[in-house]
Amino acid sequence: MAFPKNFLWGSSTSSHQVEGGNFNNWSVWEKSESRIKNLESRIKEPGFKNQFPPYVFDKWPSPSDIENYISGKSADHYNRFQEDFDIAKSLGHTCHRLSIEWSRIEPKEGEFDEKEIKHYQQVVSALKERGIEPFITIWHWTLPLWLRDKGGLLAKDFPEHFARYSEKIVKPLSKLGVKFWITINEPNVITGASYLKGQWPPQKKNYFAYNKALKNLIYAHKKSYSAIKKIDASLNVGIAKNQIFAEAKGFFNKIIKHLFNQYWNFNFLNKIKNHQDFIGLNHYFHKTIGGNNKNEKTSDMRWELYPKAMYSVLKDLEKYNKPVYITENGLADMRDKHREWFIKESLKNIHQAIEEGIDVRGYMHWSLLDNFEWDKGFWPRFGLVEIDHKTLERTIRPSAYKFSEIIKQNDL
Ligand code: BGC
Repeated sequence: MAFPKNFLWGSSTSSHQVEGGNFNNWSVWEKSESRIKNLESRIKEPGFKNQFPPYVFDKWPSPSDIENYISGKSADHYNRFQEDFDIAKSLGHTCHRLSIEWSRIEPKEGEFDEKEIKHYQQVVSALKERGIEPFITIWHWTLPLWLRDKGGLLAKDFPEHFARYSEKIVKPLSKLGVKFWITINEPNVITGASYLKGQWPPQKKNYFAYNKALKNLIYAHKKSYSAIKKIDASLNVGIAKNQIFAEAKGFFNKIIKHLFNQYWNFNFLNKIKNHQDFIGLNHYFHKTIGGNNKNEKTSDMRWELYPKAMYSVLKDLEKYNKPVYITENGLADMRDKHREWFIKESLKNIHQAIEEGIDVRGYMHWSLLDNFEWDKGFWPRFGLVEIDHKTLERTIRPSAYKFSEIIKQNDL
Protein backbone atom coordinates (compact mmCIF):
# COMPACT_ATOMS: atom_id res chain seq x y z
CA MET A 1 0.00 0.00 0.00
CA ALA A 2 2.20 2.79 -1.27
CA PHE A 3 1.37 6.37 -0.32
CA PRO A 4 1.64 9.31 -2.74
CA LYS A 5 5.20 10.48 -3.39
CA ASN A 6 5.22 13.69 -1.34
CA PHE A 7 2.90 12.48 1.40
CA LEU A 8 3.81 14.16 4.70
CA TRP A 9 4.19 12.13 7.90
CA GLY A 10 4.43 13.37 11.45
CA SER A 11 2.68 14.25 14.66
CA SER A 12 0.95 17.12 16.46
CA THR A 13 1.07 18.99 19.75
CA SER A 14 -0.42 22.20 21.15
CA SER A 15 1.20 24.90 23.25
CA HIS A 16 -0.78 24.60 26.47
CA GLN A 17 -0.63 20.82 26.39
CA VAL A 18 3.14 20.44 26.16
CA GLU A 19 5.06 23.69 26.69
CA GLY A 20 4.75 24.16 30.43
CA GLY A 21 4.97 27.48 32.25
CA ASN A 22 1.92 29.03 30.62
CA PHE A 23 -0.12 31.78 32.17
CA ASN A 24 -3.52 31.98 30.49
CA ASN A 25 -7.25 31.44 31.10
CA TRP A 26 -6.70 27.69 31.49
CA SER A 27 -3.74 27.77 33.87
CA VAL A 28 -5.69 30.17 36.11
CA TRP A 29 -8.83 28.04 35.93
CA GLU A 30 -6.88 24.86 36.74
CA LYS A 31 -5.75 26.37 40.02
CA SER A 32 -8.93 28.19 40.96
CA GLU A 33 -10.37 27.41 44.37
CA SER A 34 -13.68 26.14 43.07
CA ARG A 35 -12.04 23.81 40.56
CA ILE A 36 -9.67 22.35 43.16
CA LYS A 37 -12.48 21.89 45.70
CA ASN A 38 -14.62 20.19 43.14
CA LEU A 39 -11.78 17.82 42.19
CA GLU A 40 -10.95 17.03 45.81
CA SER A 41 -14.51 15.99 46.53
CA ARG A 42 -14.78 13.98 43.31
CA ILE A 43 -11.57 12.11 44.10
CA LYS A 44 -12.98 11.14 47.50
CA GLU A 45 -16.24 9.77 46.10
CA PRO A 46 -16.64 6.01 46.51
CA GLY A 47 -16.19 4.31 43.18
CA PHE A 48 -14.09 7.17 41.78
CA LYS A 49 -11.33 4.78 40.75
CA ASN A 50 -13.75 2.51 38.91
CA GLN A 51 -14.12 5.13 36.20
CA PHE A 52 -10.60 4.41 35.03
CA PRO A 53 -8.63 1.37 33.90
CA PRO A 54 -6.75 0.16 37.01
CA TYR A 55 -3.25 0.41 35.46
CA VAL A 56 -3.47 4.19 35.06
CA PHE A 57 -2.90 4.43 38.82
CA ASP A 58 0.56 2.88 38.37
CA LYS A 59 2.02 6.12 36.98
CA TRP A 60 2.34 9.59 38.41
CA PRO A 61 0.29 11.71 38.25
CA SER A 62 -2.80 9.51 38.31
CA PRO A 63 -6.44 10.65 38.34
CA SER A 64 -6.30 10.63 42.17
CA ASP A 65 -3.52 13.23 42.35
CA ILE A 66 -4.39 16.91 42.28
CA GLU A 67 -1.15 17.56 40.34
CA ASN A 68 -2.73 15.58 37.50
CA TYR A 69 -5.11 18.45 36.84
CA ILE A 70 -2.59 21.32 36.83
CA SER A 71 -0.64 21.84 33.61
CA GLY A 72 2.41 23.23 35.46
CA LYS A 73 5.59 22.44 33.60
CA SER A 74 3.84 19.82 31.48
CA ALA A 75 6.40 18.16 29.16
CA ASP A 76 8.64 21.27 29.34
CA HIS A 77 8.61 21.31 25.55
CA TYR A 78 9.12 25.09 25.67
CA ASN A 79 12.71 24.41 26.76
CA ARG A 80 13.22 20.98 25.21
CA PHE A 81 11.87 21.47 21.70
CA GLN A 82 15.29 20.79 20.12
CA GLU A 83 15.51 17.40 21.83
CA ASP A 84 11.90 16.60 20.92
CA PHE A 85 12.43 17.49 17.27
CA ASP A 86 15.56 15.32 17.25
CA ILE A 87 13.31 12.45 18.26
CA ALA A 88 10.76 13.32 15.56
CA LYS A 89 13.53 13.42 12.99
CA SER A 90 15.02 10.13 14.17
CA LEU A 91 11.59 8.60 13.61
CA GLY A 92 11.56 9.90 10.06
CA HIS A 93 8.85 12.51 10.56
CA THR A 94 8.62 14.93 7.66
CA CYS A 95 6.06 17.34 9.12
CA HIS A 96 5.06 18.56 12.56
CA ARG A 97 2.09 20.51 13.86
CA LEU A 98 2.40 22.83 16.84
CA SER A 99 0.51 25.83 18.16
CA ILE A 100 1.55 29.33 19.18
CA GLU A 101 0.60 30.44 22.67
CA TRP A 102 -1.34 33.70 22.32
CA SER A 103 -0.80 34.63 25.99
CA ARG A 104 2.97 34.62 25.40
CA ILE A 105 2.83 36.71 22.22
CA GLU A 106 0.33 39.30 23.46
CA PRO A 107 0.48 39.24 27.27
CA LYS A 108 -1.23 42.65 27.44
CA GLU A 109 -3.74 44.00 24.97
CA GLY A 110 -1.87 45.43 21.99
CA GLU A 111 1.58 44.75 23.49
CA PHE A 112 3.52 42.11 21.63
CA ASP A 113 6.46 40.34 23.20
CA GLU A 114 9.39 40.28 20.76
CA LYS A 115 11.25 37.78 22.93
CA GLU A 116 8.44 35.25 22.57
CA ILE A 117 8.17 35.86 18.84
CA LYS A 118 11.86 35.10 18.69
CA HIS A 119 11.25 31.91 20.65
CA TYR A 120 8.81 30.63 18.03
CA GLN A 121 11.23 31.70 15.29
CA GLN A 122 13.76 29.41 16.92
CA VAL A 123 11.16 26.64 17.11
CA VAL A 124 10.40 26.98 13.41
CA SER A 125 14.09 27.13 12.49
CA ALA A 126 14.70 23.98 14.53
CA LEU A 127 12.09 22.15 12.44
CA LYS A 128 13.37 23.57 9.17
CA GLU A 129 16.97 22.58 10.00
CA ARG A 130 15.77 19.02 10.47
CA GLY A 131 13.87 19.02 7.19
CA ILE A 132 10.50 18.89 8.96
CA GLU A 133 7.62 20.89 7.43
CA PRO A 134 5.88 23.01 10.10
CA PHE A 135 2.10 23.24 10.35
CA ILE A 136 1.27 26.06 12.71
CA THR A 137 -1.96 26.38 14.64
CA ILE A 138 -2.56 30.02 15.48
CA TRP A 139 -5.04 29.26 18.22
CA HIS A 140 -5.43 25.98 20.10
CA TRP A 141 -7.94 27.10 22.74
CA THR A 142 -6.06 29.11 25.39
CA LEU A 143 -6.55 32.85 25.85
CA PRO A 144 -4.52 35.67 27.37
CA LEU A 145 -6.14 36.92 30.57
CA TRP A 146 -6.89 40.41 29.22
CA LEU A 147 -8.97 38.81 26.47
CA ARG A 148 -10.70 36.48 28.90
CA ASP A 149 -11.61 39.58 30.91
CA LYS A 150 -13.07 41.23 27.82
CA GLY A 151 -15.41 38.26 27.40
CA GLY A 152 -13.15 35.73 25.67
CA LEU A 153 -14.79 34.23 22.59
CA LEU A 154 -17.84 36.38 23.26
CA ALA A 155 -15.90 39.68 23.17
CA LYS A 156 -17.36 41.92 20.49
CA ASP A 157 -13.96 42.61 19.00
CA PHE A 158 -12.65 39.04 19.30
CA PRO A 159 -12.33 38.68 15.49
CA GLU A 160 -10.29 41.90 15.23
CA HIS A 161 -7.99 40.84 18.05
CA PHE A 162 -7.61 37.45 16.47
CA ALA A 163 -6.71 38.86 13.05
CA ARG A 164 -4.15 41.26 14.53
CA TYR A 165 -2.52 38.51 16.57
CA SER A 166 -2.47 36.28 13.46
CA GLU A 167 -0.66 38.97 11.49
CA LYS A 168 1.90 39.45 14.23
CA ILE A 169 3.01 35.87 14.06
CA VAL A 170 2.45 35.02 10.42
CA LYS A 171 4.70 37.84 9.20
CA PRO A 172 7.91 36.74 10.95
CA LEU A 173 7.26 33.00 10.75
CA SER A 174 6.23 32.86 7.11
CA LYS A 175 9.54 34.58 6.32
CA LEU A 176 11.22 31.52 7.77
CA GLY A 177 9.27 29.36 5.38
CA VAL A 178 6.12 28.31 7.26
CA LYS A 179 3.64 27.54 4.48
CA PHE A 180 0.80 25.86 6.37
CA TRP A 181 -1.39 27.82 8.77
CA ILE A 182 -4.29 26.53 10.83
CA THR A 183 -6.21 29.46 12.25
CA ILE A 184 -8.43 27.63 14.73
CA ASN A 185 -8.38 24.20 16.28
CA GLU A 186 -11.78 22.45 16.45
CA PRO A 187 -14.19 25.39 16.75
CA ASN A 188 -17.18 23.18 17.61
CA VAL A 189 -15.36 21.33 20.36
CA ILE A 190 -14.08 24.38 22.23
CA THR A 191 -17.37 26.30 21.99
CA GLY A 192 -19.45 23.25 22.95
CA ALA A 193 -17.36 22.35 26.00
CA SER A 194 -16.98 25.96 27.21
CA TYR A 195 -20.41 27.45 26.52
CA LEU A 196 -22.89 24.59 26.21
CA LYS A 197 -21.72 21.72 28.40
CA GLY A 198 -20.26 23.87 31.20
CA GLN A 199 -17.20 21.65 31.21
CA TRP A 200 -14.29 23.95 30.27
CA PRO A 201 -13.63 27.55 31.25
CA PRO A 202 -15.70 29.72 31.48
CA GLN A 203 -18.08 26.77 32.17
CA LYS A 204 -21.23 28.29 30.73
CA LYS A 205 -24.37 26.39 29.76
CA ASN A 206 -26.08 28.81 27.48
CA TYR A 207 -27.12 28.11 23.91
CA PHE A 208 -27.08 31.78 22.92
CA ALA A 209 -23.57 32.29 24.27
CA TYR A 210 -22.46 29.13 22.49
CA ASN A 211 -23.91 30.30 19.23
CA LYS A 212 -22.34 33.70 19.56
CA ALA A 213 -18.93 32.19 20.33
CA LEU A 214 -19.21 29.99 17.25
CA LYS A 215 -20.17 32.96 15.08
CA ASN A 216 -17.27 34.97 16.43
CA LEU A 217 -14.94 32.15 15.48
CA ILE A 218 -16.32 32.12 11.95
CA TYR A 219 -15.64 35.87 11.63
CA ALA A 220 -12.29 35.49 13.32
CA HIS A 221 -11.24 32.80 10.85
CA LYS A 222 -12.34 34.82 7.82
CA LYS A 223 -10.59 37.97 9.02
CA SER A 224 -7.45 36.07 9.85
CA TYR A 225 -7.59 34.28 6.47
CA SER A 226 -7.72 37.59 4.61
CA ALA A 227 -4.95 39.11 6.75
CA ILE A 228 -2.68 36.12 6.10
CA LYS A 229 -3.36 36.11 2.36
CA LYS A 230 -2.47 39.80 2.27
CA ILE A 231 0.91 38.98 3.78
CA ASP A 232 1.55 36.30 1.18
CA ALA A 233 -1.12 34.95 -1.14
CA SER A 234 0.77 31.69 -1.59
CA LEU A 235 0.39 30.65 2.07
CA ASN A 236 -1.99 27.76 2.73
CA VAL A 237 -4.64 28.54 5.32
CA GLY A 238 -7.25 26.27 6.86
CA ILE A 239 -8.73 25.12 10.15
CA ALA A 240 -8.46 21.83 12.03
CA LYS A 241 -11.95 20.39 12.06
CA ASN A 242 -13.14 17.61 14.35
CA GLN A 243 -15.23 15.19 12.27
CA ILE A 244 -17.37 12.42 13.75
CA PHE A 245 -18.58 9.45 11.73
CA ALA A 246 -22.25 8.80 12.43
CA GLU A 247 -24.04 5.59 11.50
CA ALA A 248 -27.77 5.04 11.64
CA LYS A 249 -30.28 2.32 10.81
CA GLY A 250 -33.89 3.04 9.99
CA PHE A 251 -35.60 6.03 8.43
CA PHE A 252 -36.00 8.16 11.53
CA ASN A 253 -32.42 7.64 12.74
CA LYS A 254 -31.15 8.44 9.26
CA ILE A 255 -32.88 11.81 9.42
CA ILE A 256 -31.18 12.49 12.75
CA LYS A 257 -27.90 11.40 11.24
CA HIS A 258 -28.38 13.83 8.37
CA LEU A 259 -29.11 16.69 10.76
CA PHE A 260 -26.16 15.73 12.93
CA ASN A 261 -23.83 15.72 9.92
CA GLN A 262 -25.07 19.07 8.71
CA TYR A 263 -24.68 20.57 12.13
CA TRP A 264 -21.53 19.02 13.57
CA ASN A 265 -19.51 18.03 10.54
CA PHE A 266 -20.39 20.51 7.84
CA ASN A 267 -21.80 23.74 9.26
CA PHE A 268 -18.51 25.45 10.08
CA LEU A 269 -16.81 24.18 6.94
CA ASN A 270 -19.71 25.42 4.81
CA LYS A 271 -19.53 28.83 6.42
CA ILE A 272 -15.84 29.25 5.62
CA LYS A 273 -15.74 27.37 2.34
CA ASN A 274 -14.52 30.36 0.36
CA HIS A 275 -11.88 31.09 2.95
CA GLN A 276 -9.84 27.92 3.11
CA ASP A 277 -7.07 26.40 1.03
CA PHE A 278 -7.02 23.00 2.69
CA ILE A 279 -8.92 21.06 5.32
CA GLY A 280 -7.19 19.95 8.49
CA LEU A 281 -8.98 16.83 9.67
CA ASN A 282 -8.98 15.85 13.33
CA HIS A 283 -10.69 12.55 13.78
CA TYR A 284 -11.39 10.44 16.87
CA PHE A 285 -15.05 9.45 17.10
CA HIS A 286 -17.72 7.16 15.75
CA LYS A 287 -21.35 7.39 16.81
CA THR A 288 -24.24 4.97 16.36
CA ILE A 289 -27.45 6.94 16.23
CA GLY A 290 -30.34 5.09 17.80
CA GLY A 291 -28.04 2.36 19.15
CA ASN A 292 -24.75 1.65 20.82
CA ASN A 293 -21.26 1.41 19.42
CA LYS A 294 -19.87 -2.11 19.55
CA ASN A 295 -16.81 -0.94 21.52
CA GLU A 296 -14.82 -4.03 20.54
CA LYS A 297 -11.64 -2.15 21.36
CA THR A 298 -11.43 0.96 23.52
CA SER A 299 -8.74 3.41 24.61
CA ASP A 300 -7.75 4.15 28.20
CA MET A 301 -10.38 6.89 28.11
CA ARG A 302 -12.90 4.25 27.06
CA TRP A 303 -13.33 5.87 23.67
CA GLU A 304 -14.14 3.32 21.00
CA LEU A 305 -11.25 2.51 18.65
CA TYR A 306 -12.91 2.26 15.27
CA PRO A 307 -10.39 3.09 12.52
CA LYS A 308 -12.87 2.30 9.74
CA ALA A 309 -14.57 5.61 10.50
CA MET A 310 -11.53 7.38 9.06
CA TYR A 311 -12.46 6.24 5.56
CA SER A 312 -15.97 7.62 5.87
CA VAL A 313 -15.04 11.01 7.30
CA LEU A 314 -12.51 11.44 4.50
CA LYS A 315 -15.05 10.50 1.83
CA ASP A 316 -17.45 13.04 3.28
CA LEU A 317 -14.93 15.83 2.65
CA GLU A 318 -14.83 15.14 -1.08
CA LYS A 319 -17.48 17.77 -1.81
CA TYR A 320 -15.18 20.59 -0.65
CA ASN A 321 -12.67 19.75 -3.33
CA LYS A 322 -9.66 20.81 -1.23
CA PRO A 323 -6.49 19.01 -0.20
CA VAL A 324 -6.85 17.29 3.17
CA TYR A 325 -4.16 16.98 5.81
CA ILE A 326 -4.98 14.77 8.78
CA THR A 327 -3.94 17.09 11.57
CA GLU A 328 -4.92 14.80 14.48
CA ASN A 329 -5.77 11.15 15.02
CA GLY A 330 -4.74 9.10 18.00
CA LEU A 331 -5.62 7.38 21.26
CA ALA A 332 -4.87 7.38 24.97
CA ASP A 333 -2.97 4.13 25.42
CA MET A 334 -0.59 4.08 28.38
CA ARG A 335 0.54 0.50 27.78
CA ASP A 336 0.95 1.04 24.02
CA LYS A 337 -1.29 -1.95 23.52
CA HIS A 338 -3.40 -0.77 20.61
CA ARG A 339 -1.42 2.11 19.07
CA GLU A 340 0.44 0.15 16.39
CA TRP A 341 -2.75 -1.60 15.33
CA PHE A 342 -4.70 1.64 15.42
CA ILE A 343 -2.19 3.55 13.29
CA LYS A 344 -1.98 0.75 10.73
CA GLU A 345 -5.74 0.33 10.46
CA SER A 346 -6.25 4.08 10.20
CA LEU A 347 -3.64 4.26 7.47
CA LYS A 348 -5.31 1.41 5.54
CA ASN A 349 -8.51 3.40 5.55
CA ILE A 350 -6.70 6.58 4.51
CA HIS A 351 -5.05 4.66 1.71
CA GLN A 352 -8.39 3.39 0.50
CA ALA A 353 -9.81 6.92 0.48
CA ILE A 354 -6.79 8.12 -1.51
CA GLU A 355 -7.29 5.27 -4.01
CA GLU A 356 -10.84 6.48 -4.45
CA GLY A 357 -9.68 9.97 -5.30
CA ILE A 358 -9.63 11.86 -1.99
CA ASP A 359 -6.68 14.24 -2.05
CA VAL A 360 -5.10 13.38 1.31
CA ARG A 361 -1.60 14.81 1.57
CA GLY A 362 -0.43 14.10 5.09
CA TYR A 363 -1.00 12.32 8.40
CA MET A 364 -0.10 13.82 11.77
CA HIS A 365 -0.60 11.54 14.73
CA TRP A 366 -1.85 12.97 18.01
CA SER A 367 0.50 13.30 19.71
CA LEU A 368 4.28 13.43 19.59
CA LEU A 369 4.44 13.60 23.40
CA ASP A 370 2.33 12.58 26.37
CA ASN A 371 0.59 15.80 27.24
CA PHE A 372 -1.95 17.66 29.31
CA GLU A 373 -5.35 16.42 28.18
CA TRP A 374 -7.34 19.52 29.23
CA ASP A 375 -9.81 18.90 32.08
CA LYS A 376 -8.71 15.23 32.28
CA GLY A 377 -5.11 16.21 32.98
CA PHE A 378 -2.00 14.11 32.46
CA TRP A 379 -3.16 10.55 32.95
CA PRO A 380 -4.42 9.94 29.37
CA ARG A 381 -1.26 9.08 27.48
CA PHE A 382 -1.51 10.05 23.82
CA GLY A 383 2.22 10.22 23.03
CA LEU A 384 4.32 8.36 20.52
CA VAL A 385 6.88 9.36 23.13
CA GLU A 386 6.26 8.68 26.80
CA ILE A 387 6.98 11.46 29.30
CA ASP A 388 7.96 10.65 32.86
CA HIS A 389 6.31 13.61 34.54
CA LYS A 390 8.67 13.43 37.53
CA THR A 391 11.97 13.45 35.64
CA LEU A 392 10.71 14.68 32.25
CA GLU A 393 12.64 11.85 30.67
CA ARG A 394 11.49 10.92 27.16
CA THR A 395 11.04 7.27 26.11
CA ILE A 396 10.04 6.38 22.58
CA ARG A 397 7.17 3.88 22.61
CA PRO A 398 7.46 0.70 20.49
CA SER A 399 4.53 1.77 18.28
CA ALA A 400 6.45 4.93 17.35
CA TYR A 401 9.17 2.75 15.84
CA LYS A 402 6.57 0.75 13.92
CA PHE A 403 5.06 3.98 12.63
CA SER A 404 8.55 5.07 11.68
CA GLU A 405 9.05 1.96 9.52
CA ILE A 406 5.92 2.83 7.57
CA ILE A 407 7.10 6.41 7.16
CA LYS A 408 10.53 5.41 5.94
CA GLN A 409 9.03 3.09 3.31
CA ASN A 410 6.19 5.47 2.50
CA ASP A 411 4.28 2.25 2.32
CA LEU A 412 2.18 0.06 4.59
C1 BGC B 1 -7.78 18.29 20.59
C2 BGC B 1 -6.54 17.98 21.38
C3 BGC B 1 -6.81 16.83 22.33
C4 BGC B 1 -7.21 15.62 21.53
C5 BGC B 1 -7.49 14.38 22.36
C6 BGC B 1 -8.56 17.07 20.12
O1 BGC B 1 -9.92 17.29 20.22
O2 BGC B 1 -7.48 19.14 19.53
O3 BGC B 1 -6.13 19.14 22.03
O4 BGC B 1 -5.73 16.55 23.16
O5 BGC B 1 -8.39 15.90 20.83
O6 BGC B 1 -8.61 14.53 23.13
